[in-house]
Amino acid sequence: MHAPLPPPAALPPRNLALIGPMGAGKSSIGQRLAGALGLQFVDADRALEAHLGCRIADIFDYEGEAGFRRRESALLAQLMQHSGQLLATGGGVVLEADNRARLRQNSLVVYLAVDVAEQSRRLAHDTRRPLLQTADREATLRQLARQRAPLYAQTAHLCFDTSGHDRESACQTLLERLLPYWSLHP
Ligand code: S3P
Repeated sequence: MHAPLPPPAALPPRNLALIGPMGAGKSSIGQRLAGALGLQFVDADRALEAHLGCRIADIFDYEGEAGFRRRESALLAQLMQHSGQLLATGGGVVLEADNRARLRQNSLVVYLAVDVAEQSRRLAHDTRRPLLQTADREATLRQLARQRAPLYAQTAHLCFDTSGHDRESACQTLLERLLPYWSLHP
């Protein structure tokens, strides 16, 4: 006779982290996915804003990108101590090697990719992301993608391209891909 399976609460802690560029759907897909997987949804940028009582754009204004990155990394270190959460990260979190290592150690990491043309369409009316306040938004996105795509790829356990998917179909397809992985790699 096999020993009975432990109740879900006794299983090892499970976390999921979504990484990928701005406009890949980390927050919107993440929220749905968290509900489906019974995880607590945490948006890293919103958590940072709530913690500091100001907007991401204000942090960039007062402390520059370097200041923002320091705060982002410090918050990630704190968040990584929790379990049972789905974390939607900011697009630049992978720039720091420590962040990449922390994410992989603590979570099943999913890279949500998107092609630049679609990313550009999704972000066309965005006014709150400091890095997009440039004359040629598409060129900026292309340049960020060149720099960061290899970092996303090396950090992730799984990659999923959200181009051509709406939130519902991305979530459904992702769930199908995740569930076997989730139970094999708790
Ligand atoms: C950034 C992405 C943003 C936010 C900040 C910097 C980046 O998050 O963290 O504006 O460096 O790509 P989203 O990816 O959620 O837009």
